[in-house]
Amino acid sequence: MRSLLFVPGSRPDRIAKALGAGADAVCIDLEDAVPPDGKTEARASVMAALSEPRAQTPRLGFRINPVRTPNGLADLAAYSASSAAADFIMIPKVSHPVELEIIAGALESHERPHLWPIVESAEGLSRAYDIAAGPRVQGMLFGGADFAADLGTTMEWEPLFHARGTLSAAAAAAGIQLLDVPYLDVNDDEGLAASTARVKALGFTGRACIHPKQIAGVNAAFTPTNTEIEQARRVLAAFAQSKGGAALLDGKLVELPVIRAAERTLQAAGLVE
Ligand code: GLV
Ligand code: MG
Repeated sequence: MRSLLFVPGSRPDRIAKALGAGADAVCIDLEDAVPPDGKTEARASVMAALSEPRAQTPRLGFRINPVRTPNGLADLAAYSASSAAADFIMIPKVSHPVELEIIAGALESHERPHLWPIVESAEGLSRAYDIAAGPRVQGMLFGGADFAADLGTTMEWEPLFHARGTLSAAAAAAGIQLLDVPYLDVNDDEGLAASTARVKALGFTGRACIHPKQIAGVNAAFTPTNTEIEQARRVLAAFAQSKGGAALLDGKLVELPVIRAAERTLQAAGLVE
């Protein structure tokens, strides 16, 4: 998933449009986008929306309330008792992998969905790898807004740098995807592009969006360019010619780590498995 678009669970009328907006995934939010007195109604309409037949892409899922709260437990109970079929469930404020084990247990009879924990507290970050390696986990989201609030920092690059780096290593070790917090200024295209390029360089595989107009920029940031694909092919060709030994390409050494990076580029472009 390069891009994931959030839609408020209190606005089911927006789901159809969101599904056609070009994001790789759409996530209907029952947490922060829904006020406390709207939770019951939103929960029912989200379960109904997830029960409708739909195309395979984009992926469609929903964000429950934290599982340590009555609303989170009610979201989960409603899902497992309904005929709703989500591709993924996003779980906010995860602080310990036991939360994922409980959810996976409650979903035992469902073939899907994948779980997407959100790490957004100092406590969650301290268990980043164990959360990333939890049951059914396909990817993780960095909840930068709540994380900054938990630490008492701003959302500038430096205060969040350590958390992003830690999550990147945890996600790589567990072999899962990693999405970044949405860019909160929906009118700042340049800021979105610059910060997304930075998180991609740090190893993130995609980014959440809060407005459809952010999707194209995010998809572009996580899609290899023709130049990058061409370069990856040249690297692989040079290595193949060297018959397993080290090769030189444009004066630079090509060895196994460089090959891995080239293969990753072709994978991200969907050109190899
Ligand atoms: C997302 O949930 C965030 O807190 O940034
Ligand atoms: Mg949050």
